[in-house]
Amino acid sequence: MHHSISIIGLGYVGLPLALAFAKRHFKVVGIDLDSDKLAMLRQGTSYLTDVPDCMIEKAITEEELFVTDDYRYIASTSAVIVCVPTPLAPDGIPDLSCLHQATARIGRFVTEGMLVVLESSTYPGTTREVFMPMLEQQGFVVGRDVYAAYSPERIDPGNRQYGLENVPKIVSGLTESCTRRAAELYAAVFQHIVTVSSTETAEMAKLLENTYRFINISFINEFAILCDAMQINVWEVIDAARTKPYGFSAFYPGPGVGGHCIPVDPLYLQWKLLEHGAGSEFIRIAEQTNHSMPRYIVSRLQGLWPESGVTKRRILLAGVAYKQGITDTRESAALELMTLLRAEGAEVSYYDPFVPSLRMDAEEERSVLLNEHVLHHMDCVVIATDHAELPLALILEHAPLVYDTRNATKGLSGKARIIGLGAGDRLE
Ligand SMILES: NC(=O)c1ccc[n+]([C@@H]2O[C@H](COP(=O)([O-])OP(=O)(O)OC[C@H]3O[C@@H](n4cnc5c(N)ncnc54)[C@H](O)[C@@H]3O)[C@@H](O)[C@H]2O)c1
Repeated sequence: MHHSISIIGLGYVGLPLALAFAKRHFKVVGIDLDSDKLAMLRQGTSYLTDVPDCMIEKAITEEELFVTDDYRYIASTSAVIVCVPTPLAPDGIPDLSCLHQATARIGRFVTEGMLVVLESSTYPGTTREVFMPMLEQQGFVVGRDVYAAYSPERIDPGNRQYGLENVPKIVSGLTESCTRRAAELYAAVFQHIVTVSSTETAEMAKLLENTYRFINISFINEFAILCDAMQINVWEVIDAARTKPYGFSAFYPGPGVGGHCIPVDPLYLQWKLLEHGAGSEFIRIAEQTNHSMPRYIVSRLQGLWPESGVTKRRILLAGVAYKQGITDTRESAALELMTLLRAEGAEVSYYDPFVPSLRMDAEEERSVLLNEHVLHHMDCVVIATDHAELPLALILEHAPLVYDTRNATKGLSGKARIIGLGAGDRLE
């Protein structure tokens, strides 16, 4: 049984996982190369909305969590879980450089009996292609001397109902003994373990989940555009359809699909499919629709001022995180909206209670202080992210015009004229 563990990559996935093991009294070595993150953790300060400072402080002071950038410490633990980023390169293909870098470093300190697990989202075959050679180069036989497995992370940042521990954990190893060891390890933290027959199945299951979301959200975005054209309120349509108790899952439109996972993972799959002479038409179309959403919204905004379009219009983006209740702006459609509106000559500022500042084109921008005066001064407020914390009553009372991409203003009214994505000319 393992009682010590190393977690590589202390981001949205790795940090909560490290703390969950620390809570179960594992000795946890947390490894990250970002010196700012390490400094914050050592001071007991969190950089994630879902993780309170006190949890970090407790784990650090009780010496259950030790954080470092030095991989040699993994040799003192019996299991290693890798949670490094797996983004896309600028040309849209998988960028596994962080994983390769982490794997090479792990290779230098692997010890007999060690279990190495990959949690990063990636294409089927990665665990076998990346871990197997690294372990064999050290002279180990996988499944006998050392163990390797894949277990996809399914965390949903900001979700208060489903946290880390009560979402079933899919696990599979490169051999049966690898699966057994990995399942045993995760059973210390997770309530339900689901083992599958190969690491490729586990990797593909994660891609199915995220591709399913990607395609459905892109489809409902297209549906919203169709409803706009037909002057039918898509939000009301969805509310009506979802009263069907079976066979229908509601997805909601928005300015695009953001975040580090949903828009990225389907492209990992698409890239790998090429190797097999295959490809997904659904992913291709969903990707195209998703990308077109910010441009579509800009075209709707242009239409609000037929003479001059958005040129010189003062537009405030309310919410820039990629979804409600979180600080993450990676791949956020709001940022694309900002760029496109500026390219059309609009004067764009933003307000986000979760994102006090952000970098756009190497410039730091700050969230504006929202008050009556600022709102009166705007030509339009675009609700891009429906944080529950948005002061909607204030916005609706003092802004002249609101373009709501999320139906955040449902049931509310004020002096502002409200127009919404997927609702034709009026949302009210
Ligand atoms: N964020 C989510 O909601 C989520 C959900 C499910 C799966 N995932 C997947 O989990 C993986 C990690 O995502 P994340 O959101 O936690 O990323 P993140 O960027 O928040 O964190 C990754 C961390 O890894 C560190 N890192 C990079 N290279 C390293 C290296 N060689 N050695 C040590 N540390 C290194 C970075 O400094 C960073 O702190 C990705 O594959 C992602 O697709 C993320």
